[in-house]
Amino acid sequence: MTEIPTLSGVPFLGNIHDIDSTDTHASYTRVANVYGEIFRYHTVGQSVVVVNSHDVYDGVCDERYYEKRPNQGALFHMRNGLGDGLFTSFNDEEAWGVAHRALMPKFGPLSVREMFGEMYDVSCQMLSKWARQGPTHPIDPVDDLTRLTLDTIALSAMDSRFNSFYREKNHPFVDALQFFMAESGRRQFRPQFVNDYVYRASTKKYWQCIEIMRNIALQAIKERREHPSSKNDLLNAMMRGKDPKTGKGLTDENIINNAITFLLAGHETTSGMLSFFFVLLNGNPRAYKKAQEEVDTVIGEAQLTVEHLSKLPYITACLREAVRLWPTAPGSRVCPKSQNDADYPLLLGKKQYKINKDDVIQWNMLKVHRDPLVYGEDADQFIPERMLDENFNKLPRNSWKAFGNGMRGCIGKDFAWQEGMLNIAMVLQNFDLQSTDPSYTMRVRQTVTLKPIGYTMTARLRKDMT
Ligand code: HEM
Repeated sequence: MTEIPTLSGVPFLGNIHDIDSTDTHASYTRVANVYGEIFRYHTVGQSVVVVNSHDVYDGVCDERYYEKRPNQGALFHMRNGLGDGLFTSFNDEEAWGVAHRALMPKFGPLSVREMFGEMYDVSCQMLSKWARQGPTHPIDPVDDLTRLTLDTIALSAMDSRFNSFYREKNHPFVDALQFFMAESGRRQFRPQFVNDYVYRASTKKYWQCIEIMRNIALQAIKERREHPSSKNDLLNAMMRGKDPKTGKGLTDENIINNAITFLLAGHETTSGMLSFFFVLLNGNPRAYKKAQEEVDTVIGEAQLTVEHLSKLPYITACLREAVRLWPTAPGSRVCPKSQNDADYPLLLGKKQYKINKDDVIQWNMLKVHRDPLVYGEDADQFIPERMLDENFNKLPRNSWKAFGNGMRGCIGKDFAWQEGMLNIAMVLQNFDLQSTDPSYTMRVRQTVTLKPIGYTMTARLRKDMT
């Protein structure tokens, strides 16, 4: 058995000086570079164990012993806005089971294929904007890809047009969401009375942002109630669907919570994934050339169809590799499941680290995904070949986990993947991209998810658009 290395801290506030509440994952990575595959830190009233290697993370993925419990950390504060929606509910909360079983079929590969038309529509809007702006206009990929993914989830899931490409500024949902997410991250490091009485202005804004997101979701639901549609979309599934196990439908409150959840989870992470993808691909001319050649060979000048997407193995590998290096949802938390003192300590990993009943376990995919024991000494480099099917399928279990684990893993994975592949294929088919600063090195902003910052590129039409 091995004791977990523990950071020494200050009384009451614990490791407030080691873990930056605005940039936790950079802090976790910095500390991991000194302490190694696992360490423990303390924050207000809590002991958090951070897991950084594949071997230890593999143990944490065992759902017999560990479960997601959103009663602490950023998730606890996100629950103020997302309530018992899928992302922030407890495993044993009835609302989670009902919504999970009722909505799962809408996220299966066949249902997602049916959303190709909406995804294509919004991607065309982005491409038209880039074409109109001309070949020298600096594009911040995060801005436009956020527009893309927000409009795509709103259109595919709720038949709502957010028209972000026709607005100068962000859609109000995006601004509200960004503050809400960042503030949820910060609130976890402050005692409740400090949030309530010291950070009064931030707390007020936080609740206003929740109100804005709620009203936008309510509006979409109201619209559908006033103008019912026969569309086979997610909103109808939430409003009419039944859980095959209990026969129950979603409550009105749960529909609102899930509508906000889908708008949030359905765009924030996908825009980060695509932004990192374009930064990495543009920085790697050899991979760029191969990816574009693949598009030219498989699609040529034809209009993209859903069938093309499964015939792009090299681009698939590039996207897997981008999400390995920069998983946009870089960590989550679980707690030991058993309430029985006799079951402790639990033991984790080859070194048998001791886990106590009250520990909270946080994983850091920025390190797990770069574990040299799995990916070799060049784990920090962008090498798409290692993600081609023949190599990807041989990776050890739980070594590529950008979409979370087990029953609480991402319900929207196929949606995000199709949307991402479609957009990449259309961009490479129609444009030559170039970074405006060839010496750019990755800088990252964390809200709860990650995005690259300070990066711009140009997009030159290769010929008239397809
Ligand atoms: C859960 C990642 C796209 C909806 C998760 C989790 C991760 C994740 C890591 C698990 C979180 C945890 O353990 O606490 C991603 C990434 C995406 C993406 C990297 C894009 C690149 C999407 C999309 C949707 C979505 C497009 C919806 C259309 C959800 C929901 C959950 C979830 C509802 C909670 C599921 C549950 O607990 O039952 N996602 N996601 N995600 N994701 Fe995604």
